[in-house]
Amino acid sequence: MLTNDQLAQWDRDNFFHPSTHLAEFARGNAPQRIITTAKDCHITDRDGTRLLDAFAGLYCVNVGYGRQEIAEAIADQARELAYYHAYVGHGTEASITLSKMILDRAPEGMSKVYFGLSGSDANETNVKLIWYYNNILGRPEKKKIISRWRGYHGSGLVTGSLTGLELFHKKFDLPLAQVIHTDAPYYFRRPHDDMSEAQFTAHLVAELEALIAREGADTIAAFIGEPVLGTGGIVPPPEGYWPAIQEVLRKHDILLIADEVVTGFGRLGSMFGSDHYGIKPDLITIAKGLTSAYAPLSGSIVGDKMWKVLEQGTDENGPIGHGWTYSAHPVGAAAGVANLKLLDDLNLIRNAGEVGTYLNAQMRAALADHPNVGEVRGEGMLCAVEFVRDRDGRKLFDASDKVGPRVAAALLGHGVIGRAMPQGDILGFAPPFCLTEAEADQVVEKTAKAISEELG
Ligand SMILES: Cc1ncc(COP(=O)(O)O)c(C=O)c1O
Repeated sequence: MLTNDQLAQWDRDNFFHPSTHLAEFARGNAPQRIITTAKDCHITDRDGTRLLDAFAGLYCVNVGYGRQEIAEAIADQARELAYYHAYVGHGTEASITLSKMILDRAPEGMSKVYFGLSGSDANETNVKLIWYYNNILGRPEKKKIISRWRGYHGSGLVTGSLTGLELFHKKFDLPLAQVIHTDAPYYFRRPHDDMSEAQFTAHLVAELEALIAREGADTIAAFIGEPVLGTGGIVPPPEGYWPAIQEVLRKHDILLIADEVVTGFGRLGSMFGSDHYGIKPDLITIAKGLTSAYAPLSGSIVGDKMWKVLEQGTDENGPIGHGWTYSAHPVGAAAGVANLKLLDDLNLIRNAGEVGTYLNAQMRAALADHPNVGEVRGEGMLCAVEFVRDRDGRKLFDASDKVGPRVAAALLGHGVIGRAMPQGDILGFAPPFCLTEAEADQVVEKTAKAISEELG
């Protein structure tokens, strides 16, 4: 939607938008929307258009928009103490309380939380800590990180390398040499039609073993994965995937980072995806749902095994040389405390599980017979619809047909925000946890309508 007023012009003239076609935007030919207010699951723009946000921003506004409890906590903190740093043992009531609340909720075996500002910087921290860890243990060669194709872990230098999506590498000279990729646990795109899920898992395990053998286990430090692939297509893992992968990692003394930026704090209907799938990580990445995006805050939760070595490292080398001005920012921490309380008080994680299951079931029922819907999949409050040219043999559309973006645009025309995922014709949904069944029905009904308009 284009507007020609002053603000829209300033926007085109001055503002460098992330993940945007820069030239088309500057020319005024790309979508432009200026958001003014939001409440619960809806956002409203300055033209008065009200939209049901079935992607919760960027799957982050988990408690929904307009929560006064969090706004008040932020305002109170800013008035009382807007800032103090966390270096050399300084803290605030908010940052200390939040670290305890996180550890109280974290899977077993976690020791401490380091605070950053974004999922990207938290993964950057994780990689640095892993390199430090192996240096302290006297194995400087053990540094490579294995990530999965279609994983999403951020868009910095190391984290953009960990991300296994073409768009984030192309023309940026990524991935960096220390990052290697293995196959995506993406059953719908398995190599053979007649492979069972268990056979596909065995295939992925064999691929991982082969990669480790090629590179040498003594050069590989860690494996990073999202419990459910997110931006790469919203893909729950195939049967038996996580236990089988962890067995390989244990055998080769390779650490595991569970990137729970999307799944942490309830999106799957469990507190953490690690609990949901029985994952026992050495590090957990958190961001988005930690504050429901009311303020920027992320974290690296460090497990016991690594923590002991980090302490040994500082005994040998002095204070750890890692930190940012805004690490554990008190305003972000206050937002986190209020957000986690709200999740508990309103039972929102249970709602995410229940209404998410309902949304997935209704979406499946509405679209299962459509000839261009290859799969409806999801877990908790995550759902995806993958489009195919022909269901027989899972034949995909040509990327240039832009089927995913076209359906997402048609859906937007019906007042619902879904996300055309960046690689493949996949329409993704990740609504706020406060979604009602009536709103879920609306998402399904409008999606079916948009699909029939675009694909028949
Ligand atoms: C799983 C995962 N990890 C990391 C990130 C990066 O987070 P940020 O965009 O806050 O840097 C994202 C962002 O979508 C994500 O989905």
